[in-house]
Amino acid sequence: MKRTVFLAAVLLAAACAPKEPALKDVFKGKFVLGAAVNAGQIRETDTRGDSVLFRHFGAIEPENCLKSAEIMPAFGQYNWTLADQYVAFGESHGLDVYGHCLIWHSQLTPDFCFDKEGNLVSPEVLKERMKQHITTVVSRYKGRIKGWDVVNEAIMEDGSYRNSLFYRILGEEFIPWAFQCAHEADPDCELYYNDYSMHEPAKLETVIKMAKDMQERGIRIDALGFQAHLGMDYPDIDLYESFIRRVKDETGLDVCITELDMSILPTITRSADVSMTREAWEQVINPWPDGVPADVQEAWNARMGAFLDMFIRNADVVRRINLWGVSDGDSWKNGWPIPGRKDAPLWIGRDYNLKPFLHKYVR
Ligand code: GLA
Repeated sequence: MKRTVFLAAVLLAAACAPKEPALKDVFKGKFVLGAAVNAGQIRETDTRGDSVLFRHFGAIEPENCLKSAEIMPAFGQYNWTLADQYVAFGESHGLDVYGHCLIWHSQLTPDFCFDKEGNLVSPEVLKERMKQHITTVVSRYKGRIKGWDVVNEAIMEDGSYRNSLFYRILGEEFIPWAFQCAHEADPDCELYYNDYSMHEPAKLETVIKMAKDMQERGIRIDALGFQAHLGMDYPDIDLYESFIRRVKDETGLDVCITELDMSILPTITRSADVSMTREAWEQVINPWPDGVPADVQEAWNARMGAFLDMFIRNADVVRRINLWGVSDGDSWKNGWPIPGRKDAPLWIGRDYNLKPFLHKYVR
């Protein structure tokens, strides 16, 4: 009997203990906080990931399930199962649902740009196919997906256009065309151009030029997506801030931080040489398999905290911050650029706790 009373008291105390405030509430009025979700989270088999997602985040993006190759294994043949689940999952948990991505050179339906003989299709055919795909997907979720990454990663760091199949067939026009098709399919939907390394001056220059060109032609574009896959040694935070402001000053557009993560591991700039033992190379690529040293953790927290402070300072431009994954264990960085690493790039650790740099906000 005594034991039962004691247990009940413990449970009651736990239920009444003040919980840390939710991140999404702390940043309300500044920006929307979202996370990319994977299949386990969408299917609700990852219950721990989901509970931290529901508690701290107000928006979602799909890590993979809306990309063309995922949703349309062969041109015109759709498999909606996971994509439908994704949208319903967000709605049923009160999360803002975002779409990623309509036109991308990677994870692309293999025959999107080819005819039956394996030749590149003509510009007219590709325009028609792009319209068909974009209209099909955007109108299926019309009024339910709040904003779409219409085109992903079309500009290179040197400011040139990526020599993708879309570019080879249609030239620069494939971008405005994609935006036009998306707008026609859902006139109320927000439309974004999304890319990595937006702190590269030549790249941002071209992106801004492309966005202004669309604005002058009356084609809807709402914001630029800065993917923000950061490292401990790049990019420079002041430069990043000045580029975010440049977008606003030169185009009036907002910025979304769309795929935020910061690898805690050393940036790999070399490959193994023959004189190296397997163990020595392992040590280079995955130096802390059993836990990151405290000073490295501290440096990561300081740097991520400085980025967050900077985003808050620029909350008049930054309308959404989206982490690329819910917790460290989910991150693509554990397998890229080299498989088998143990990274810790997100705001929530493998233990599902908030990283220390957030404590000052959730006190
Ligand atoms: C790019 C894409 C994302 C994702 C990441 C890696 O940034 O935009 O969809 O594939 O690479 O996970």
